[in-house]
Amino acid sequence: MKDVIIACDFPCESDALSFLDRFSLTERKPFVKIGMELFYGAGPSIVREIKRRGHRIFLDLKLHDIPNTVRKTMKVLSALDVDMTNVHAAGTIEMMQAALEGLTRFDGTRPLLVAVTQLTSTSEERMNSELLVQGHIQDVISRYAENAAAAGLDGVVCSPLESSLVKSSCGQEFLTVTPGIRFADSASDDQVRITTPSRAREIGSDYIVVGRPITGAADPVSAYQRCLNEFVYGK
Ligand code: C5P
Repeated sequence: MKDVIIACDFPCESDALSFLDRFSLTERKPFVKIGMELFYGAGPSIVREIKRRGHRIFLDLKLHDIPNTVRKTMKVLSALDVDMTNVHAAGTIEMMQAALEGLTRFDGTRPLLVAVTQLTSTSEERMNSELLVQGHIQDVISRYAENAAAAGLDGVVCSPLESSLVKSSCGQEFLTVTPGIRFADSASDDQVRITTPSRAREIGSDYIVVGRPITGAADPVSAYQRCLNEFVYGK
C-alpha cells in the first residue's frame, strides 16, 4: 500500500512534537521519518514518544560500518520497535546480512529493512569524479539494489525516478522508498534527482519521503494532504 512518510527533520523533541500536534485532527495519522538530526538531538526517547502517539516510524539512521558493529547496533535499534529502518548498500552484502540478523528478534519478527543506493543529492558527475564510482548512476543503483535483494532486504531508498528500474531488476514486491520529492511549483533545495508526488506514483514508488515541502510549508497539513492526493489517491 502506498504511503507518504513525513521527514521530521527537527533539532529537538519540542520542535518535532509541536509540528506533529498540527496533525492531531487529520484523518490519517502520518507515517513519520526520524532521521539523524532528531535522533541525535533528542535521543531514543523521541522514538518511543512518537510511537506512543500512534505514528508508524521509519528510523533513518543509514548505518554504514563493519558488519559486527552494524549487527550489534541493529539489535539495539530493534528493541525500539520501529516499522522501518535502513543501512547504506555501499557497506556490502555482508554488512546488509549482518544488519538483518541483528534486527531480527527471537520470535522472527523485525522492522522492514531497506538500503540507501545513492543519496538523492548525489549527481552522476559527483559520483564519478568524487566518489570514484565509475559508470552510469542507473547501473550503480540497479547493482546496489540487487545486492540489497541478495542480502534479503525488503527494498531500497532511491530517487523516485529510479523506482521502475529497481523493480525491473529486483521484482515488483521489492520496496522503493523515495525521497527527492518536490511539488511542481517548489524549490529543489540540495536535492538533485527529484520529481513530483504524482510522477512518483506513475513510476511506481511504494513510499515517498517528504521533508521540506511539508515541514517548511506555510500550511504543513495541506501540503501533506496535497502529497496524499497526488501520490496515494492519484487525484
Ligand atoms: O527535505 P527533503 O524532502 O529534501 O528531505 C528528504 C529526507 O530524506 C531527508 O531527511 C534526507 O535525509 C532523506 N534522504 C534523502 N535521500 C536519500 C535518503 C534519505 O533525501 N537517498
